[in-house]
Amino acid sequence: MEGNSSPLLQLENVTKTFTLKPLFGSEKRVEALRNVSLRLEAGRALAIVGESGSGKSTVGRAVTRLFQLTSGRILFAGRDIADLTTRADRMRYLSMVQMVFQDPFAALNPAHTIRHHLVRPLALRGLKSAALEAAARQTLADVELDPDMTLDKYPHELSGGQRQRINLARALAVDARLIVADEPTSMLDVSIRRSVLDLMRRLKHERAISFLYITHDIATAHYIAEETAVMFAGQIVEYGPSASVIRNPQHPYTRLLLSAVPDPAVRIVGPSGAESQSFSVDAETVRDFSRRPVGQSREVVPGHFVYHHSDMNPSIGEAALHA
Ligand SMILES: Nc1ncnc2c1ncn2[C@@H]1O[C@H](COP(=O)(O)OP(=O)(O)O)[C@@H](O)[C@H]1O
Ligand SMILES: [Mg+2]
Repeated sequence: MEGNSSPLLQLENVTKTFTLKPLFGSEKRVEALRNVSLRLEAGRALAIVGESGSGKSTVGRAVTRLFQLTSGRILFAGRDIADLTTRADRMRYLSMVQMVFQDPFAALNPAHTIRHHLVRPLALRGLKSAALEAAARQTLADVELDPDMTLDKYPHELSGGQRQRINLARALAVDARLIVADEPTSMLDVSIRRSVLDLMRRLKHERAISFLYITHDIATAHYIAEETAVMFAGQIVEYGPSASVIRNPQHPYTRLLLSAVPDPAVRIVGPSGAESQSFSVDAETVRDFSRRPVGQSREVVPGHFVYHHSDMNPSIGEAALHA
């Protein structure tokens, strides 16, 4: 891959339209992604936050499944992933980019032990017999699981949090450079969510693994991700350093998401600097507004962008922004 000046992952104006052809009635088009541009550096995390249906998982799938985009480009280490045409190139890419799903069972085979799940990818790296066993044990230790207690178990014998650790261990086993974690803690008990996020944070620091952290929970975004992108209806409406987006949200939709956060430590501060917990515009008005196509982005503080709706009535935007 190319020089270190390129970010690890870059999306350039990615648009994805699904066409649904029902048995009866006319064709329907779903614009799942509209002009999405993002960048992620090696060893850093980018959170994609938004409500259900906003297009978050489609971003993850576009990166990990190599499906055809309607328009735009996805670059990995500077190279357009649409150009990975040989089987070897695609296989290599698909091991560097791993997916961790919401359902920790989804990617595990119930008929096989944890040893089997780890030994297979490690063997592909050329390890054999004793070295292979040692590497499997080390990989478990790396995700804070006891090898003796874990290797011979089946997925159903582990807790949800332990299974999610196995999924992360499998990504380590193939030496992933990017992990796309799609709501990785949503199905876990509240009490263990934090420890799984802690593990991902540690892997990011210690292994320089990058994370695309997909979540509907804007409050957890800053915990792991240096940067946060807020999505609504297939578009990015706000994007920037997580602390800035959370402490100084500018787009009405970002404020709406934050107003639903029960954590009182996350305060919403208005553009004037005055604290405004009361967001007075109602949710449907904000959603209707946010559905309009975004045109230009405005940089409110360095690196923090707010997207402006091209056909917006300025008075609506300003009223919502200063509510
Ligand atoms: N394969 C598909 N075919 C048709 N529509 C899809 C497909 N995948 C996603 N969509 C639609 O795209 C939109 C975004 O979906 P998704 O990315 O799953 O949202 P999120 O992960 O934010 O909940 C939704 O309207 C969804 O119904
Ligand atoms: Mg999703």
